[in-house]
Amino acid sequence: FEVSWDAASAEKGGFSSFMEKEIHDQPAAVADTLLGRSDTSGRLILDELRIDPAELKKVNKIIVLACGTAAYAGLVAKYAIENWCRIPTEVELAHEFRYRDPIVDSNTLVVSISQSGETMDTLMAVRYAREQGAKTVSICNTNGSTIPRESDAVLYTHAGPEIAVASTKAFLAQITAAYLLGLYLAQLRGNIFSGQIKDVLADLNKIPEKIQTVLDNAGPLRELARSMKDATSVLFLGRHVGYPVALEGALKLKEIAYIHAEGFAAGELKHGPIALIDEGQPVFVVVPSPRGRESLHSKVVSNIQEIRARGARTFVIAEEGDEAVRDYAEHVFYVPETPVLLMPLLTTVPLQIFAAELASAKGYDVDQPRNLAKSVTVE
Ligand code: AGP
Repeated sequence: FEVSWDAASAEKGGFSSFMEKEIHDQPAAVADTLLGRSDTSGRLILDELRIDPAELKKVNKIIVLACGTAAYAGLVAKYAIENWCRIPTEVELAHEFRYRDPIVDSNTLVVSISQSGETMDTLMAVRYAREQGAKTVSICNTNGSTIPRESDAVLYTHAGPEIAVASTKAFLAQITAAYLLGLYLAQLRGNIFSGQIKDVLADLNKIPEKIQTVLDNAGPLRELARSMKDATSVLFLGRHVGYPVALEGALKLKEIAYIHAEGFAAGELKHGPIALIDEGQPVFVVVPSPRGRESLHSKVVSNIQEIRARGARTFVIAEEGDEAVRDYAEHVFYVPETPVLLMPLLTTVPLQIFAAELASAKGYDVDQPRNLAKSVTVE
């Protein structure tokens, strides 16, 4: 009789690494973050957001502060918040913010995003914003950590403990929480009809099973990742909400596979990065939904044609049913249909899987990459 597991592997739930487990935890991370935050009539109930609604109505600028992956969640949030609330929203790396004499006053809402709640750069930026009179809300995954304690209010993400240094499920939970905050502000300020909020919530509630579909169909993507373990550089292109997804895909690959990776806004290609394309250069392209602004979809399809004509290997993440990309893609990885603003909750997942699979094919410790700490508590 042989015991083929130990306590450590049991903690990983049978997965080869915490990162793999956490990628698979994502349907639950999103579902749990949504849970109990709206009623059956489609009204947001964010009782924990203890800032006087009258004060929130006066907000005329939002600044999202965060670092790394959390900052990319903030970039995704910007598209949704501006669309739903019509409040100008800036996203800034926390460590840059307080060194540039930012314009902040009592009508500014500062939203910090942090998985750990202990990131020193983010904490110092929140402190600075409060000193300037801003209202501060923190989106955080760690109960009772420092950043929420030092903020006026907190909206917790319910992703559960994230052990792997490379953030995955916290990212999707942060995006989900930021959407809830955006919808809540829109509801409060009467920017969009309650019916619209109800529809977005219904679409959000369908996301967990769609993430599961992406996870279940990842076989070919994993095969591709294993075949690319000798790659030395991978580029990622995206546009609109796909742009932060491209940045996140590149960060994951740098962090755990130690491969040079860059994310670009697809529209920026002709302003420089296209010079990097030569024979065999792998490029992931996150394609906007053809149901969104048609011009955006066709522009990104043209980008794929342009790089392919210059010899790039094109790996495309597209929405189910998007046939226009097939002819120009070496591989297409489809994600289920969902409203444009919610797409990052699905399109990020293949890029996480790709990085994790490639790094483990290289034999690296996926959970504890070199030179990195889970929580960066120094400035
Ligand atoms: C993500 O994979 C990184 N390890 C890192 O960028 C991280 O997101 C960043 O340090 C912010 O951490 P926080 O969310 O705990 O504040």
